[in-house]
Amino acid sequence: MSEHEVKIPARQARSYAIRIGSDILGSVWPQMDAEFPKRGKFVVTDRNLASAGHLDRLLGQRQVATFVIDPPGETSKHVNTVISIVEAMEKAYLGRDSLIVALGGGTVGDIAGFAAAIFKRGVPVVQIPTTTVAQADSAVGGKTGVDSSISKNAFGAFWHPAAVYIDVATLNTLDERQFRAGLVESVKHALIADSQYFDFLEDKLNDVLERKLDVLEELARYNCRIKGNVVEADPNEQNQRRMLNYGHTIGHAVEAASGFELLHGEAIAIGIIAAGMIEIELQLGRPDRLDRIRRILEKLGVPVKLPHNLAEDELIDLMKRDKKAVNKWPRFVLISEIGGVFCRQGQWAVEVDPDVVAKVLQKL
Ligand code: GLY
Repeated sequence: MSEHEVKIPARQARSYAIRIGSDILGSVWPQMDAEFPKRGKFVVTDRNLASAGHLDRLLGQRQVATFVIDPPGETSKHVNTVISIVEAMEKAYLGRDSLIVALGGGTVGDIAGFAAAIFKRGVPVVQIPTTTVAQADSAVGGKTGVDSSISKNAFGAFWHPAAVYIDVATLNTLDERQFRAGLVESVKHALIADSQYFDFLEDKLNDVLERKLDVLEELARYNCRIKGNVVEADPNEQNQRRMLNYGHTIGHAVEAASGFELLHGEAIAIGIIAAGMIEIELQLGRPDRLDRIRRILEKLGVPVKLPHNLAEDELIDLMKRDKKAVNKWPRFVLISEIGGVFCRQGQWAVEVDPDVVAKVLQKL
């Protein structure tokens, strides 16, 4: 047997700009043309965005090859949609010098981002998020993925965007329930990283709910700063990035057990309350802190209690199947104060005794 060593040079550090504004959709295309001049553009969006007029605002009079995901939403987040996108790009004679523009919420961003990661071994993607959850979370950080017929996110890649444009005015057409549920990721950011941001949310929540554009811009700036810092420190989720999973360990189980009747943010709200109850059990927090968190979530109108039809045993079983579980038991992200994640021996997601979790689920 002989052996050869192939050295892969470390990838060059790369950065991307996140541009935030109100009513900027109409000026994004010229900026993209200036930044990515020689690239053939291909837009991926969905039927809701097209009928709300956002696609027309982005394109103006330009004729650009476009794939409209229909039906919009989770059922289309399947690898078959990515195959259709790749074939549509081939039919439009696009090659490795192309660029995918993702206009839409988290589902569009995930599908388009994954298509970009694999098309001709990878082309850049520009993310233009249009929902509260995508603007706060999924458009920044490069996680992309689609489902197989068996499991969620079975296909996935880290594929960082080439640029992100956030037009908070696109939130004006977002349905109220989605709008509110997506804001839970903003509460999560404040809890893990910035107590001043939590004060801002408490203070300005009415303005946020009234969709005042200047306040939504401020919100987007806080979110992108926090998420950007975490992603910069740990782009591929080796450790520190796990802190973004605050509320997600129990939240994901609740979301799945509800048969996805609960929106992601709604399930994460319950997960955040559960994390707060675990913190009290472990003496990392006091009830008054959890009351403050509960109040803001209640004001958002998202659930803060486990729905009666969800069985604790099923939730425990789902948690054991968590993709980040170690020896069939997940790790939990906990905070020691508002704006500060609890870190044990350099780990940002820590082990919690199953009895403590079972007790919390009973009370939840
Ligand atoms: N949404 C969590 C992350 O991007 O890591």
